[in-house]
Amino acid sequence: MRDLAGVAALVTGGASGLGLATARGLAATGARVAALDLTPGEAEPGILHLACDVADEGSVVAALDAAEAEHGAARIVVNSAGVPGSMRLVGRDGPVDMGRFAQVIGVNLLGTVSVMTKAAARMMALEPLGQDGERGVIVNTASITAYEGQIGQGAYVASKGAIAAMTIQAAREFAAKGVRVLAIAPGLFKTPMASEVPPEVVEAITSDSIFPRRFGEPEDFADLCLSMIRNPMLNGEVIRLDAGVRLRAS
Ligand SMILES: NC(=O)c1ccc[n+]([C@@H]2O[C@H](COP(=O)([O-])OP(=O)(O)OC[C@H]3O[C@@H](n4cnc5c(N)ncnc54)[C@H](O)[C@@H]3O)[C@@H](O)[C@H]2O)c1
Repeated sequence: MRDLAGVAALVTGGASGLGLATARGLAATGARVAALDLTPGEAEPGILHLACDVADEGSVVAALDAAEAEHGAARIVVNSAGVPGSMRLVGRDGPVDMGRFAQVIGVNLLGTVSVMTKAAARMMALEPLGQDGERGVIVNTASITAYEGQIGQGAYVASKGAIAAMTIQAAREFAAKGVRVLAIAPGLFKTPMASEVPPEVVEAITSDSIFPRRFGEPEDFADLCLSMIRNPMLNGEVIRLDAGVRLRAS
């Protein structure tokens, strides 16, 4: 989908961090962007901010309805809503609290699946576009922890690993309808979520990066996301965006 002007786009987690930068990047191309978040972001040109809890199916349907009423059904979906999920599998107090584990899975994995599938069903009913007959593209947000889960990142690792694994599966299933599915696995990015990472872990991750040895900027993520949306030959792929870092055990 080379020309994004006038195309309807949904970005979850669109009030902060990677989602907000992506919403802004999409709006700058002329796409009609709906940014979904627990607390809607501040009004700004080109972005319709909507309240949505991705872990609540009714809330997702209501937000998709509201966005569609304003912009038409989305051909671009970026799932960036997420929560951290630090916990040991077996800690000082014993085995992990399954309620806490499920809560993280509920937002990061089930929220992503809920938005992806509900939006994909609407996308599949749209007219195919261009020489490839593409109807739309979905970009989910995994994490490099999907591949190198660190000690103490229990539920977060499981949620992101599942998002990475589903990429090829969903791409295969949706191909018949001209919908591509991709994911980005970020390293460490300078967002409110990363402010919760202890300084010694930040130091370890940046110093273990190949180059450059710094936090990623949200705009670095948005740039890759836009490029993936535009390039029709990318499909079923999870792309690491991490300055080449390989994580330590903890
Ligand atoms: N920042 C990093 O270093 C990093 C690294 C790897 C992956 N990620 C992933 O990138 C994504 C974006 O994270 P970020 O760093 O921009 O964090 P962030 O905290 O700045 O943004 C996440 C947004 O998701 C929203 N959100 C949380 N739960 C929600 C729910 N139930 N419904 C709707 N919205 C909800 C939050 O309100 C917030 O605005 C997340 O999926 C995160 O796991 C981030």
